[in-house]
Amino acid sequence: MLMRVSLRKMFFSVGAIVGTVYLLNIYGILRSDMLRSGHSRVNYERQQAVRDAMKHAWSGYRQFAFGHDEFQPLTRTFNSKWGGWGITLVDALDTLKLMGLDEEYSEAKRLDFQMQVFEMTIRALGGLLGAYELDNDPMLLKKATEVGDVLLWAYDTPTGLPASRLDINNRLLSGSTLLCIAEGGTMQLEYQKLAQLTGNDTYRRMAERASNALENGQRKYKGLYPTYIDIHSGQYVNNTALSVGAMADSFYEYQLKQYILNGKREQKYKDWYVTSSEAVKEKLVRTAWGMKYIGHWDYNESLFVQEMQHLTCFYPGLLALGARVLDRPEDLRLAEEITETCYLSYRNMPTGLGPEKSIFVLYRITGDDKYREWGWNIFMAIEKYARTPYGYAAVRNVGERLVQESNWEDSMESFFLAETLKYLYLLFSPPNLISLDEYVLNTEAHPFKIIK
Ligand SMILES: *[C@@H]1O[C@H](CO)[C@@H](O)[C@H](O)[C@H]1NC(C)=O
Ligand SMILES: *[C@@H]1O[C@H](CO)[C@@H](O)[C@H](O)[C@H]1NC(C)=O
Ligand SMILES: *[C@@H]1O[C@H](CO)[C@@H](O)[C@H](O)[C@H]1NC(C)=O
Repeated sequence: MLMRVSLRKMFFSVGAIVGTVYLLNIYGILRSDMLRSGHSRVNYERQQAVRDAMKHAWSGYRQFAFGHDEFQPLTRTFNSKWGGWGITLVDALDTLKLMGLDEEYSEAKRLDFQMQVFEMTIRALGGLLGAYELDNDPMLLKKATEVGDVLLWAYDTPTGLPASRLDINNRLLSGSTLLCIAEGGTMQLEYQKLAQLTGNDTYRRMAERASNALENGQRKYKGLYPTYIDIHSGQYVNNTALSVGAMADSFYEYQLKQYILNGKREQKYKDWYVTSSEAVKEKLVRTAWGMKYIGHWDYNESLFVQEMQHLTCFYPGLLALGARVLDRPEDLRLAEEITETCYLSYRNMPTGLGPEKSIFVLYRITGDDKYREWGWNIFMAIEKYARTPYGYAAVRNVGERLVQESNWEDSMESFFLAETLKYLYLLFSPPNLISLDEYVLNTEAHPFKIIK
């Protein structure tokens, strides 16, 4: 997601690898004997250790930043980076519920959020919907609808693609008319879920309209989408700069997840995903020193950039999920190889901080215990390098083995509670907790029940 790119320090991409391991664990359902024995005392203890980390992160936020956007653990203050109505709080709700932190959860839920927000679909709308799915309190759905209705103003454009910024007070669209595809393509799960829960089809129709606009823009390569599109003309710009990393990532993720969320009924989403994943495999997946990675093009094939951006580490998790849902076993093998590349590239950093979002998915699908070990190593690195006396700080330079303030950034991002700790917790949980046969996770790891 665009806004997260510059902020997402490497260790938060831990989410990417753990997420993939979790997904691969879906295959664990086929190998459930192994998983049952896998949920041993050790895993229980690890699960509890992640839960303790959540308590630690939450208590820093609660004590010094409650109701505000972000906790700054070093100075013990808060900031209002996201409009000032408590983004960490809503983003963390379903993680608290899931971990059985009941006291913290009920306190968090009582807060009367100030909805003076602009575009926060994945964290705010997603967070409220995810908590509602776990708890069924109508108040949460009411809040979600309020947030969803405000954000809806941004879609009043000729193409149905949203403006990137919205001036809430004056109900005006602002920002550039160029939108990155992650922004245009990462609201469909949230609005389709809202449509299902409220019975109001308007939300589904506007989600579909935005998807269609992205699909219909003229492109040079089937299955690959340039990073920027004009929200007035519906034309892509710089037609040959192609990537599945920053600014594009969750667009590809939601192609498949829309298909799953809607009970695998709408063929077109499946076709879009299959076409794009074939194109990514053909054009962007390469091998170096025997390791598979995903690069990108700066302009065209002649300028292929041989580097794996850390945001790209979500992609093997997506391949693994697609392998499971669409029965594409060769994608699972590739997903395992790319996840290993991601894990090792972080592992070889002095701090060992690394991506976790894909590890979880891969674990759930394959049931291979090595992913739990990887996730545990990543968690230990977080504990060692990011834990501060009050919560967790982002690590400035994962290449420095420094446990000290000079290597800490004074911020605890909301996705650390929403996503990183949730994925780690689920990695050590039995696979029926948020089973991937029953739930789809949005790009911020908020669980939505699959629509039957
Ligand atoms: C459905 O939602 C839209 C957008 O908020 C609203 O304008 C419309 O009145 C709603 N329809 C119903 C039947 O509630
Ligand atoms: C498109 O490419 C041109 C250079 O060819 C560059 O100046 C411009 O910033 C690019 N636009 C976007 C949105 O990437
Ligand atoms: C690729 O892009 C570069 C830089 O814009 C350009 O010089 C080259 O002609 C392009 N090649 C092809 C095959 O389009």
